[in-house]
Amino acid sequence: MSTGRGTRGQRFFARWYPSVMGRAEEAGQAAIRARHLAHASGRTLDLGTGNGYSVPHYPPAVTELVMVEPNPALREQLQRRTQDIRARAWQILDGDAYDLPFADASFDTVSASLVFCSLERPEAALAELARVLRPGGSFLFHEHVRGTGLRRVLQEVATPLQVRVADGCHPNRDFLGMFRDSPFRVAEVEHLRMPGGAATVVPMVVGTAVR
Ligand SMILES: C[S@@+](CC[C@H](N)C(=O)[O-])C[C@H]1O[C@@H](n2cnc3c(N)ncnc32)[C@H](O)[C@@H]1O
Repeated sequence: MSTGRGTRGQRFFARWYPSVMGRAEEAGQAAIRARHLAHASGRTLDLGTGNGYSVPHYPPAVTELVMVEPNPALREQLQRRTQDIRARAWQILDGDAYDLPFADASFDTVSASLVFCSLERPEAALAELARVLRPGGSFLFHEHVRGTGLRRVLQEVATPLQVRVADGCHPNRDFLGMFRDSPFRVAEVEHLRMPGGAATVVPMVVGTAVR
């Protein structure tokens, strides 16, 4: 049931995600974010910001940062976390990947980290990101993805449970495959391992798509 405090699943996720992901951040994920987000510039949208692990890594070239986070409990943590790093113009909004409250072509950069696994309609969200990104702008993505061999078997087996305990997270998503029928073209992609990640979320892709 959804309330002003979010669904039970959202509240549960907000209780454990920051500490579990915090271990991955310390193990090297923060460095991956910093290197990747160094490519952001201009008016930038961060979709599904969570408790804000990406936020400190946006460079000064980002002139405005708009963070969209639908989980009220994570939004509250994000507010607290960003209190002392409010150097740039930015705002935190409730919102939904399928219906972003922004004009067409109104961002120079759009960014999503570890979000597409959680979306029920990822292709629709990809189209919506393309709508709000200006032609020539960049989509910076950082997602855990479907693996191969035994890892893939483990991911398929774990998916029903992970969807329940991790607020909709599908470890078996073919994220790159979604670009085939999208308005984006993948310009660069690195295949990495999530440092300190659970076995189901180790394979990761970090890269840039353009429209
Ligand atoms: C695994 S967390 C990642 C948080 C953060 N981006 C990070 O890198 O740590 C997934 C995030 O996607 C958000 N999310 C889920 N469904 C969403 C939707 N329909 N629109 C926007 N964000 C969504 C969740 O609330 C959550 O904050």
